Amino acid sequence: MPPFCICIMENSPELGARLAEVFKLVRRGAAVIDVGSDHGYLPASLILRGVCGSCIVTDVNAAPLERARRTFAEYNVDTWRVDFRLADGLCGVELPLGNADICICGMGGELIALILEKRRFARGREVHFILQPMTREWALRRFLWDNGFETEAECAAEEKGKVYCVMSVYFTGRSVEYADGELFCGKRSARRASAAFTKYLDKTARSLEKKSEGIKKGGGDAAYFDKIIEWARRELSFETNRSEP
Ligand SMILES: C[S@@+](CC[C@H](N)C(=O)[O-])C[C@H]1O[C@@H](n2cnc3c(N)ncnc32)[C@H](O)[C@@H]1O
Repeated sequence: MPPFCICIMENSPELGARLAEVFKLVRRGAAVIDVGSDHGYLPASLILRGVCGSCIVTDVNAAPLERARRTFAEYNVDTWRVDFRLADGLCGVELPLGNADICICGMGGELIALILEKRRFARGREVHFILQPMTREWALRRFLWDNGFETEAECAAEEKGKVYCVMSVYFTGRSVEYADGELFCGKRSARRASAAFTKYLDKTARSLEKKSEGIKKGGGDAAYFDKIIEWARRELSFETNRSEP
């Protein structure tokens, strides 16, 4: 690939709030790998809006990878800027030298964890992960903290009445201590406070309440979930107070 060089085009795919939040976290000038890209809107926008010079675009399925190819063709992205790979996660994908930003978005938290588990990473800040789980964020956070990944930031985005979290992560090799409540709410120290994050905490608390009610209706012991609900409500009230003028 030619050396790093940037182009800025006025016309690029429109990103919803979820992918726009991912977009904002990508480091300017990093080589991007978008894992499970599907439509390819994120990497195409990153190139067209001058954030990065080149991208590796992967998908485990041929049809979504073809969709990404079509997006790049539609927006006339230079072909030398993108490398399309039919691949399971990061298997067989060589990490570029220098700063690499790896985006893994729009999948379940456990699948994202599995993709990361299959690959070894060097410590350091050359490789930056931007992870956007659609479900079971707690399982992803547990995997990350138990396996030497640090969440540097957590943001939230609201799109079409749904809230999503987006994580900015580095591999340090050191496991991270956590309380169980933090698995569900993220760490307060990493949180980028916003109205969307407050909604995310509210959604988390409500879904835990449903879980607890279900357990109780079935005659089970929901003490664990009740403690987590308490934690989530405390975090929610902290964020609500912080956002009040
Ligand atoms: C819901 S789409 C998300 C598309 C885009 N990343 C986004 O956030 O809008 C999930 C994509 O991940 C792909 N996928 C699922 N498992 C994968 C894996 N192990 N490796 C690479 N891609 C995978 C699917 O084929 C699908 O195209």
